[in-house]
Amino acid sequence: MTRHFLNTFDYSQAEIQALLDDARRLKESPFTRDLENKTIALVFLNNSLRTRTSFDVGARQMGGHAIVLSPSSGMWALEYEPGAVMLDEAEEHVSEAAQVLSRYVDLIGIRAFPKFEDWEEDRKDKVLQSWAKHSQVPVINMETITHPCQELALAMALQEHMGSLDGKKFVLTWSYHPRPLNTAVANSALMIASKMGMDVTLLVPTEEFVLDERYMSIAEGYAAENGRSVRVTTDIESAYTGAEVVYAKSWGALPYFGRWEEEKPIRDAHRNFIVDARKMALTDDALVSHCLPMRRNVIMTDEVFDSPSCVAYDEAENRLHVQKAIMRNLVR
Ligand code: CP
Repeated sequence: MTRHFLNTFDYSQAEIQALLDDARRLKESPFTRDLENKTIALVFLNNSLRTRTSFDVGARQMGGHAIVLSPSSGMWALEYEPGAVMLDEAEEHVSEAAQVLSRYVDLIGIRAFPKFEDWEEDRKDKVLQSWAKHSQVPVINMETITHPCQELALAMALQEHMGSLDGKKFVLTWSYHPRPLNTAVANSALMIASKMGMDVTLLVPTEEFVLDERYMSIAEGYAAENGRSVRVTTDIESAYTGAEVVYAKSWGALPYFGRWEEEKPIRDAHRNFIVDARKMALTDDALVSHCLPMRRNVIMTDEVFDSPSCVAYDEAENRLHVQKAIMRNLVR
């Protein structure tokens, strides 16, 4: 059976650590022939700067080739519903697209954000799961409702700066943004921090911003295995006090999915969740990061982002190294 890279919860902690160790080797020696004569198709249904560039550069650095496919580059609109009578926009079913691409390429990357209308529908991750089901080559999640490549990049950056992550105090803080965003990176940060043995605090403005029960429960499971905890709080002071890592992200409140005008007054009332120097002063000299792209002085102040504590550029760079490790391990 084809092994994909869809979620880190499909991989043991030892397997994730092996990928991180491999990424570290690739950071030291970037040029290999592991993807010689191999091609990865990068299917982008949403915008990207880091993911698109780092996969393309990474494939080239290992002797391979990347081809970007997206609706804006003329890819046919696809149908994802099994048994659909295809009278709408879609010209082709994902089953054909995935099987045909599998005859041309060696890996397929998928970026498909939620539609933001109905969380019960979006949480099925139908686009990614359909590609994985019909593809005969490994599929990589380039961000759907989770962002596993970002998880590895974050874990690698933290290990580079802190060594072992075991027992470190990790705070995932919601931060204000004028629009409701995907919960993918938040779900992922929660899972990787707890998987790597960190003590996790989820700081949210109200209980409505708690993440999907699937990811909360996976994180709680890892915490229990590692003798750690996942704490949820709305109290800024207690969350930041003694933190060793602060990870900032904004996301939309799941109970308001598709009814965002009702959520807006709640998010607008919590602009004070910005990561600033006053809050960082409560921490234990914490590292701080964000997955990027990030709105300066909305999510995090310039003062914090441009400080030596911020490892966001290391995390962004590590996207290249971890994705190379993922690609070469999937084609072996
Ligand atoms: N963090 C991240 O995935 O960046 P892009 O959206 O630019 O790819």
